[in-house]
Amino acid sequence: MKKIIVAIDGFSSCGKSTMAKELALEAGYIYVDSGAMYRAVSLFCIQNGWMTDTEINIPALEKHIESIHIEFKTNAEGKSETWLNGKNVEDEIRSLEVANGASRVSTLGFVRRELVRQQQLMGIMKGIVMDGRDIGTVVFPTAELKIFLTASPEIRAKRRLDEMAAKGEKADYQKVLDNVKERDDRDQNRSESPLRKADDAIVIDNSNLSRDEQRKILRTLFSEKTLV
Ligand code: DC
Repeated sequence: MKKIIVAIDGFSSCGKSTMAKELALEAGYIYVDSGAMYRAVSLFCIQNGWMTDTEINIPALEKHIESIHIEFKTNAEGKSETWLNGKNVEDEIRSLEVANGASRVSTLGFVRRELVRQQQLMGIMKGIVMDGRDIGTVVFPTAELKIFLTASPEIRAKRRLDEMAAKGEKADYQKVLDNVKERDDRDQNRSESPLRKADDAIVIDNSNLSRDEQRKILRTLFSEKTLV
């Protein structure tokens, strides 16, 4: 079977990582969460005292950007975890503070160039599923299979609220919805590699799809590209 690159882009809280992880597991491919890499850079800034609510120490980050080593390692349960400079940071990078910082560092051109370089190296042997915002447009413009995943902001806000409820966290629907829309706006309107659908990407709107229906669609698309 032919080994390919699968690029999955789309808005936040669309279920990109769930989709990407499942496909990678089924196909025996490497899974890379590119968002985790921006989160790791954000954490690195916080750890070094380079990020306040309003500012980032850009000269310091730029000087040290090449000393940021990000790896993905599979834990005993088979889950991929993010490591930063030799330390497991998987839990730390999921905090709201780190997420907000990630959204800010991801607008910096030199950060994007370095992470894109590392991401392209990870895909050199193919057999990889990567999810993010610019995978089909910038990181792997020649990926054999490109998916652009979307769902209505209202559905995504509801899903995020359910996820938070499952963790025992309470939140207000309107606030979560406003946050979803804010992030969409920032992702689509930043000057560096804004989120957009690659011309040859296949759009999947999963607003009204079950996980099973979505899985079947992806499986069919993947087979079409690999069984040739
Ligand atoms: O998918 P996520 O929420 O973990 O992403 C964290 C941040 O990084 C988010 O603000 C979008 C940004 N990002 C990006 O600019 N490019 C990518 N390829 C992946 C994520």
